[in-house]
Amino acid sequence: MTDHYAVIGRPINHTKSPFIHGLFAATSGQDLEYGAIEGSLEDFAGDVARFRAQGGRGMNVTAPFKLQAFQLATEPSERARLAKAANALKFEGERVLAENFDGIGLLRDIEVNLGQPLAGKRVLLLLGAGGAVRGALLPFLAAGPAALVMVNRDRQKAAGLAQEIGHPLLSVSSYEALQGERFDLVINATSASLVGELPPVPADVFAQAALAYELAYGKGLTPFLRLAKEQGVAQLADGVGMLVEQAAEAFAWWRGVRPETRPVIDRLTLPLT
Ligand code: ATR
Repeated sequence: MTDHYAVIGRPINHTKSPFIHGLFAATSGQDLEYGAIEGSLEDFAGDVARFRAQGGRGMNVTAPFKLQAFQLATEPSERARLAKAANALKFEGERVLAENFDGIGLLRDIEVNLGQPLAGKRVLLLLGAGGAVRGALLPFLAAGPAALVMVNRDRQKAAGLAQEIGHPLLSVSSYEALQGERFDLVINATSASLVGELPPVPADVFAQAALAYELAYGKGLTPFLRLAKEQGVAQLADGVGMLVEQAAEAFAWWRGVRPETRPVIDRLTLPLT
């Protein structure tokens, strides 16, 4: 029998998830259908309940429902609990399992696809203290960087998050204090690029960076990536690999089979110009 999955978000018309999971299913020989649902702001829980009642086995969750998806879970994973957000749900009878694969997807893209293992690196996560960063902190710290520095416009927000995690390698900076600092990897996890803005990051941070990573996908050369390029950073990346890797994690969680990601990333990659 064909199993049913879907992504839920609002808006949902630009989602790549059905394309990604369709290719995963075809290449791994899994019998499943994967759709897209525009969730309602007033009744997200009802939308999920209806999908389950129709036999749905699992969902991917995107903006703005990740928090609500976490709250629906009967069994959230540790990663989801820390992020206070879920991007994947699995339905097993009455149980609703919740996961957050965004951080591990980002980490896999950086380490495996882009060939930059975090062990021993000085990593600057330019983040908000938003959901994307919350999801990334545990997997990043587990990868053993020499240092992991968070910076956010609202410094208190980042400091609160760092305190919650309480890890010796994790510290918080202000944008001004980054002047003169050097990092191996610089990652933009703020939402600034979505509106064509540049976080107030001093150009110095790129001086020795091997990789600048923009979480936003499909925006071309964002102001952040442009600055990195001007500073001579050799490797620039956007979030397409993260998108595909988090999808592969969800697929493996649901189906017990990890699909090949490289061909899917290649199909979705847009030029950074
Ligand atoms: P997400 O869930 O994708 O992480 P979010 O929770 O809305 O999104 O977080 C976005 C982050 O980007 C916020 O932390 C925000 O900073 P503040 O916490 O100070 O508001 C950060 N951000 C948004 N626009 C920015 C800009 N122009 N410069 C720097 N940071 C920005």
